[in-house]
Amino acid sequence: MPKPRKIRQRAANRRGERVKILISGGRIQRRIQALAKQIRRDFPDEPLHLVSVLKGGVFFLTDLARSIAGEVSFDFIAVSSYGKATRSSGQVRLTRDLDSSIEGKTVILVEDILDTGMTLQYLLKLFQQRKPKHLRVAVLLDKPERRIAPVRADYLGFSIPNEFVVGYGLDYAERYRNLPYVGVLSLDSKVAKKAAEK
Ligand code: IMP
Ligand code: MG
Repeated sequence: MPKPRKIRQRAANRRGERVKILISGGRIQRRIQALAKQIRRDFPDEPLHLVSVLKGGVFFLTDLARSIAGEVSFDFIAVSSYGKATRSSGQVRLTRDLDSSIEGKTVILVEDILDTGMTLQYLLKLFQQRKPKHLRVAVLLDKPERRIAPVRADYLGFSIPNEFVVGYGLDYAERYRNLPYVGVLSLDSKVAKKAAEK
């Protein structure tokens, strides 16, 4: 019988926030190695151009890029994000465009998480108009329950339940991006309410 996974429960911080580990740093790294191999198998001889969505996708891109053999280049794009709320507004706005053209390139769009799918739907439409040779999507995490737009990832790290997660690039009000693992964020309602009233 497999041993139950040890869950490390951290104490709530002064803001009343608690993070429970969902996917360890080791599991993330092993999964990225496998995804890198899969991507290279699909495009054995092509230069690959990775495009990450700032800022959440950055750690995923840098780890993925270092694991893919052969010629790899990358670029960044930014879209408007959640801000402080844990719910998506459904509104997507481009706030930083690419440095170079993607025409004729084999492009892998690298995102931290696929939630409603609105962000990727917008970006895929925009990128398709720019005539890449191939356009694929790699996401570290997928919350299939939340999907609104019909978007699917070609390369997926982990499918996760409908919980708000932080770490490994993902933030809550710009915090927690630096955690080496992905964890579920919970808010102590009393402390959070007090903080919101301030
Ligand atoms: P979508 O457009 O709803 O698919 O949302 C994509 C973006 O929302 C992601 O790139 C994240 O920036 C953000 N997001 C969605 N779910 C979470 C979460 O659980 N934690 C942190 N950010 C999230
Ligand atoms: Mg993001």
